[in-house]
Amino acid sequence: MTAAKRILTVVGTRPEAIKLFPVVRALAADARFVSRVCVSGQHRAMLDQVLAVAGLVPDHDLAVMQPDQPLDALASALLAGLGRVIAAERPDWVVVQGDTATAMAGALAAYYHKVPVAHVEAGLRSGDIRQPWPEEVHRKAIDALAALCCAPTETAAAALRRENADPAAVHITGNTVIDALHWVTAQVAARPVLAAGLAEVERRFAGKRIVAVTCHRRESFGAGMQAVARAVRRLSARADVAIVFPVHLNPNVGQVMAAELAGLGNVALLAPLDYPHFARLLDICHLVLTDSGGVQEEAPALGKPVLVMRATTERPEGVAAGTARLVGTDTDRIVAEATRLLDDASAYAAMARAHNPFGDGRAAGRIVELLARS
Ligand code: UD1
Ligand code: UDP
Repeated sequence: MTAAKRILTVVGTRPEAIKLFPVVRALAADARFVSRVCVSGQHRAMLDQVLAVAGLVPDHDLAVMQPDQPLDALASALLAGLGRVIAAERPDWVVVQGDTATAMAGALAAYYHKVPVAHVEAGLRSGDIRQPWPEEVHRKAIDALAALCCAPTETAAAALRRENADPAAVHITGNTVIDALHWVTAQVAARPVLAAGLAEVERRFAGKRIVAVTCHRRESFGAGMQAVARAVRRLSARADVAIVFPVHLNPNVGQVMAAELAGLGNVALLAPLDYPHFARLLDICHLVLTDSGGVQEEAPALGKPVLVMRATTERPEGVAAGTARLVGTDTDRIVAEATRLLDDASAYAAMARAHNPFGDGRAAGRIVELLARS
């Protein structure tokens, strides 16, 4: 019998935890592997919310988060800390996900230690290194050194081939976010109490159409965030609409939103929701305004139109299918596009179609099989 493969999965932020818990669960249930998990603690409360829901207990926690952390200090703490864990664990593979500083540092540390890297959600490209910033460059760097590139879609795989990735390293697996969404939806269906914390907001806004809002992109800090806040304020003046906005803990987001939106009758500014509550919000909302990567993938799966408050996206599949629209961060444009969806039933119906360009909910199993035979 061959020895079990040692897999070290590295997780830093909320979306990495959401997209990697299906992989970690599959590894843990499979005798072919010894699964170890290192959380960098790039996020704290927002990461811990997911770990708790998914029942994921890390073997290492680097606890690197600092308030309003600058990218250079964050990256160097991550590289040193993750390098130490890789040296101690001596895994056969390091698994990273997406494009965060943790994913980039985890991949680079593994490369320095000559451990092969599997990149979950490889090949996404906006084509502009200034947006998403710094994620576009992180993702390209990880793909350049990964021995296994798990592309969620054909578009992502094609981008890797264009960059001359080794064809043997590129596989289309689907995006594990759909696995995670299916899992959490089933959990909430079986135990509605898991998402009962939204009941107060639902009562408060009964009879109104709910617009779910999230935003946090670094390239939008300052003027972009202000413009988003003003757009939300203007939309909230409508009597038939209510805004439910779980605010990211980055202080560059919260300060702007609190200054512009606190106390408005039609706006609920909430702390970050745990995953069951956020899935419930996506379920009850009429439309979504977001700059989030993960939310751009989840909302189409639930048939919710998404207005993407960014100038570019590395996830063009929703736009191509007509269920997502890039609207940028201009106040007038955001208000005009949202108003069109609120007032024009046929425009709304054209976007409100459930479809799954990002995956079929079985990505984690494919990734685990790839790790088993690689
Ligand atoms: C990070 C990722 C981004 C990802 C996003 C998901 C990088 C460079 N950015 O952005 O790609 O889309 O996470 O949400 O990797 N904070 C808290 N508590 C938390 C989380 C954050 O207080 O649980 C605050 C801290 O002040 C922290 C700041 O937010 O310094 C920024 O966190 P950071 O992870 O550097 O960047 P994000 O904007 O969250
Ligand atoms: N999410 C959540 N609670 C919230 C907001 C978002 O659980 O209050 C989830 C959402 O369902 C998605 C992920 O967090 O799976 C997206 O994370 P984020 O927008 O922070 O990062 P990005 O995907 O842009 O990297």
